[in-house]
Amino acid sequence: MSQLPTFDTAESLLSWAVGHFGQKLTFASSFGAEDMVLLDLLLANDPKARVFILDTGRLHQETYDLIERTRLRYRRTFEVYAPQAGPLERLLTESGPNSFYESVEARKACCYVRKVEPLGRALEGVEAWITGQRRAQSQTRIELAMVDRDGAHGGILKLNPLVDWSEEQVWEYIREHKLPTNSLHDQGFPSIGCAPCTRAVQPGEDLRSGRWWWENPEHKECGLHRRS
Ligand code: ADX
Ligand code: SF4
Repeated sequence: MSQLPTFDTAESLLSWAVGHFGQKLTFASSFGAEDMVLLDLLLANDPKARVFILDTGRLHQETYDLIERTRLRYRRTFEVYAPQAGPLERLLTESGPNSFYESVEARKACCYVRKVEPLGRALEGVEAWITGQRRAQSQTRIELAMVDRDGAHGGILKLNPLVDWSEEQVWEYIREHKLPTNSLHDQGFPSIGCAPCTRAVQPGEDLRSGRWWWENPEHKECGLHRRS
């Protein structure tokens, strides 16, 4: 596929992707609000679609509770990718449990062991992956495409079906379909990652400003969405 296909709606992209890639399509879900919408849309196309979460070991209890509620609602399991024991033990031994606060490099080293390396395993043999990124989420995402090639993972397709959805659209869908959501959203957390690296934001603040809040905005990506 040299020319990337184009789509008008999230639904048409997902329906094409399910038909085209089958089990070589997978969805990376953090169980955030966007991902709950995508999960519902994806499973309407294919109830057996592959879905995985990167369980960093530092997620909020509220996120684990939501995973459990979602398993019950859709009566299915979700693949879990966890950090490898050896590298995690080395990181904790050498740098301590809270090294992410020390520098951007130390934070990225933790993200590498807990997210980036497990993501590489989750994408083995995969031809296209789905994410819940939206352009309006932050300044690092304003140029995001709906369909892109993922240079960081061998040039497979990266699909961002909600790329041009607003936050209001996401919540309208959630209300209309009575989807389960993370209870932290009601406590001022629009974007939820690991517990020690996420805090609530004030009304009007950038949606991702509560992530790695001690860093400059241009650093606020964890390596899951590198371009190459
Ligand atoms: S990120 O910086 O943590 O990647 P964000 O929380 O905005 O950013 O998530 C964007 C998308 O990345 C999510 O919609 C999801 O597709 C994917 N993602 C983020 N965290 C995880 C996770 N822990 N497990 C699986 N997918 C994830
Ligand atoms: Fe580590 Fe924080 Fe990255 Fe989670 S978000 S992997 S705790 S640095």
